[in-house]
Amino acid sequence: MLILGLQGSPRKKGNTEFLLSLFMAEARKYGARTHIVDVCRKHIEPCREFTTCEKKGFCPEIYPLLRKADVVVPASTVFFYNVTAQLKALIDRSQTLWARNYRLKLTDPNRGMRRGFMLSQGATKGKNLFLGVDLTARYFFDAVGAAYAGSLYYWEIEHRGDMEKHPKVREDVAAAVKTLLEPYQGRRKILFAGRRNAARSQMAAAFAQMNGGKIIDVSMGGVAPAEQIDPLAAAVMAEKGIDMMFRIPESLDDALAGETPETIVAMDTVEIGDTRASARVDWDLPDAEGLDIEGMRRLRDEIEARVSDLIQPPTS
Ligand SMILES: Cc1cc2nc3c(=O)[nH]c(=O)nc-3n(C[C@H](O)[C@H](O)[C@H](O)COP(=O)(O)O)c2cc1C
Repeated sequence: MLILGLQGSPRKKGNTEFLLSLFMAEARKYGARTHIVDVCRKHIEPCREFTTCEKKGFCPEIYPLLRKADVVVPASTVFFYNVTAQLKALIDRSQTLWARNYRLKLTDPNRGMRRGFMLSQGATKGKNLFLGVDLTARYFFDAVGAAYAGSLYYWEIEHRGDMEKHPKVREDVAAAVKTLLEPYQGRRKILFAGRRNAARSQMAAAFAQMNGGKIIDVSMGGVAPAEQIDPLAAAVMAEKGIDMMFRIPESLDDALAGETPETIVAMDTVEIGDTRASARVDWDLPDAEGLDIEGMRRLRDEIEARVSDLIQPPTS
């Protein structure tokens, strides 16, 4: 489970930074992996409406993270009744993901399980202070395929240290994180292991997220990860309306670091090494490399059927 924080305020050691760090520390208590992008240091160009990013994307780092995240947590102070311009630039660039879903009708496999949670604070006390922030957050979440799961907003926070001194912030964050991460608890951890994590284990992970995300915590990895997903695998998944764009091959070592999957599903006789997994299942699938489109379709369908068996509760 990955929680992605988008730190949108430029001030170092400021109120937003404190609030987001507190939130992430709380999430780690539930076994989540956390990653914070310091958005203001990414120098993201505002959208120029050329729509090229709708086809190509704009950043080798941000889209894959947005796709990998189970929970997206933007955090921003209020600048003129909205998020900061830096965070807004990133948000505008998520138009790419909006277009893939709504224009190209391709579904991100993790869309059903992803949640979005907004954090913000500002200096004044008017009741409309967070209207702009909240609307922007809701539309952003829809674009990145995350269901709006709530927010924490704080009024009358101005100087460095004000957020930290707030009498209820720790209690609020603990309660919010508990509720937010509830649906992710108790899922069976399954790791799909392949050689390059470019085709078979990618397709398996995508089907498992899409059809079994409520009961399975999916991870994947390859012994020697490829540079990119096999384009033919992405093409045959797109035929089924599943979007593999911005998913990148991952290493098995990274997937296993600090994790204890209950089951490792190996695509073939791949050497996994020492793990604490309680079970290993071998699928003995043919290698995807060198397959023609028909072969890749057959492999996709075979993987989909096997994932479906994996998800079914055993019949007695
Ligand atoms: C350019 C700018 C615009 C701001 N606009 C607002 C505003 O519209 N409403 C408000 O209540 N506070 C506003 N503030 C105050 C900040 O929201 C406040 O100081 C906040 O705590 C700073 O958070 P940080 O420490 O995370 O940067 C503004 C501050 C700046 C620098």
